[in-house]
Amino acid sequence: MEGRGSWQVGLQRPRRLRATAAMRDLAAETDLTAARLLQPLFVVPGQGVRRPIGSLRGQDHLSVDRLPEVVEPLLEAGVGGVVLFGQPPAGAKDAEGNAALDPDGAVPRAVRLLKERYPEMWVATDVCLDPYTSHGHCGLVDGERILNDETLPRLARMAVLHAQAGADAVAPSDMMDGRVGAIRTALDAAGLTDTAILAYTAKYASSLYAPFREAEDSAPAFGDRRSYQMDPRNGREALREALLDMAEGADMLMVKPAGPYLDIVARVAAAADRPVFAYQVSGEYAMLVAASEAGLIDYDAALLESAVGIRRAGAAAILTYACLDLARLLERGRWRPARPPLAR
Ligand code: PBG
Repeated sequence: MEGRGSWQVGLQRPRRLRATAAMRDLAAETDLTAARLLQPLFVVPGQGVRRPIGSLRGQDHLSVDRLPEVVEPLLEAGVGGVVLFGQPPAGAKDAEGNAALDPDGAVPRAVRLLKERYPEMWVATDVCLDPYTSHGHCGLVDGERILNDETLPRLARMAVLHAQAGADAVAPSDMMDGRVGAIRTALDAAGLTDTAILAYTAKYASSLYAPFREAEDSAPAFGDRRSYQMDPRNGREALREALLDMAEGADMLMVKPAGPYLDIVARVAAAADRPVFAYQVSGEYAMLVAASEAGLIDYDAALLESAVGIRRAGAAAILTYACLDLARLLERGRWRPARPPLAR
């Protein structure tokens, strides 16, 4: 016999939980809210600058005075915070990345302005030398060798500078060994015990950073970053990095990129006793934009799916260039159709 209740269909009907929007919302295992999203922002020296970044649709280079134009809509949308990336003045790059230690650099000034105007906003800063070095590497170099231990004091000084400006968290993205411990020690020695460390724990040597490097003018002048960033073939190694960063005092761990590394997000989240963030990087965003502009996928739907997938894998928060787009979609209640008014 065919039809209703036949045992061939089975006693189990998972579709009951998918039958209506209301049922699906109640059964959903994952939530996504604007408060879980962090917006990367590119601050530059100068005045009155708001210059669109060609490689990243909708993103701008901003001088400090124009930050509020971009930050206020983010605050209104309920976004969880911002992560600041800096640029030195033209011609100020050198082999040691000294411009990174300028107390009047774009990042410290941006932090001071943001914390003064919007004290409740969560502000983190990227700590890394690459936009400031003439060779574009994240550490000091000796010939073509990237120096580890010699780089640590500079990263620590940069972190202290950002923390003194008022940053809630500093986010070292350099992948030098021991940098979390060096930064924690320096912060504490400066009395900055409340500043958190968001460690880029598992940062892979990825092709997906290309649009960011164009924006930051930070592509390495020689070689690549494979002697310090992680090998995409490795998963267990991320657990080693996670254990080290936790032992050194990291408050939050990050996996980057996000989409192709969701297994790493899940494994690190399972192994860690603290929040794991994931960075949907420039290339992931650019792929969504390009494919939708080519008419191949629906931007809104694909964006939401990518973000909820990162949350489902175990990320507490997501760094993404699409914060405002996501906040708009979430507010509209993308998961269910517009609610009809109640009949009376
Ligand atoms: C380096 C840094 C990079 C990104 C964040 N910090 C680039 C790199 O390692 O070359 C990439 C972020 C993105 O692609 O969105 N300090």
